[in-house]
Amino acid sequence: MDVCPSRTLALNEEGFPEEVSEDKCILCGQCVAVCASHALTHSGLPEGDFLPMPKELPTPAMMDGFLMSRRSVRTFKDRPIARETLEALLDVARRAPTASNSQKLHWIVVGDAAKIHALSEESVNWIRSSGNGAAMLETWESGYDFVLRGAPTVVVACAPAEYGWGKQDCSIALTFLELAAEARGLGVCWAGYLTRIAAVHAPLRQALSVPEGYVVCGGLMLGERKYSYRRIPPRKPLSVQWN
Ligand SMILES: Cc1cc2nc3c(=O)[nH]c(=O)nc-3n(C[C@H](O)[C@H](O)[C@H](O)COP(=O)(O)O)c2cc1C
Repeated sequence: MDVCPSRTLALNEEGFPEEVSEDKCILCGQCVAVCASHALTHSGLPEGDFLPMPKELPTPAMMDGFLMSRRSVRTFKDRPIARETLEALLDVARRAPTASNSQKLHWIVVGDAAKIHALSEESVNWIRSSGNGAAMLETWESGYDFVLRGAPTVVVACAPAEYGWGKQDCSIALTFLELAAEARGLGVCWAGYLTRIAAVHAPLRQALSVPEGYVVCGGLMLGERKYSYRRIPPRKPLSVQWN
């Protein structure tokens, strides 16, 4: 009862927890997940859909090392990522927190080299039409795809246009996906150009087949990494205030 975010559980006459306000439940599963004796079930969450907790979790030192050694990878081997791997990554991403457990995200996965090139080309079309980005256009004309870096896979996260937490939910889910990919030795880079241009350029949204009523909130390039990194680069000193 204590862990329920919307306080929907109360003790019944026999002293067992019972749902008192079904409409407030956000189906987060915390009540079942925390129950030490497996006594609690939830009619909206099939028992078989709960996963066991992992036996071992990384130590803080392992976790910190893993997070800090993540890099943006922009050079990929010319090999596709297996469908099962992508499904496993998306399965991790869908476990990321979403505001009120709303789980409203929609994913687009592009794994075809010609289609990925077309996305870059459409992004460049917008840059060209904006009258800016001469240096970028020069890079493109030289044959280098600075938009999607020749990645064999692009994953895009969308959210309903009217949903107020789309950017946050997508960013968290993409970060889960990024780290799950890193853990498998894959290379990942955020697709910032694609994301920003998709917001303002309908032909790019069409090339992505973004469903009606959805907006692109973020994207990642993924592939097998060509190089491995030997050091962790420095960062600016923290700007922090301790109030
Ligand atoms: C929101 C966001 C958008 C980004 N967009 C791009 C991009 O379009 N192309 C690119 O090469 N890198 C992109 N990056 C990667 C950043 O340049 C990179 O994170 C930064 O230089 C630090 O390097 P590191 O990730 O290796 O630590 C993006 C990163 C973020 C967080």
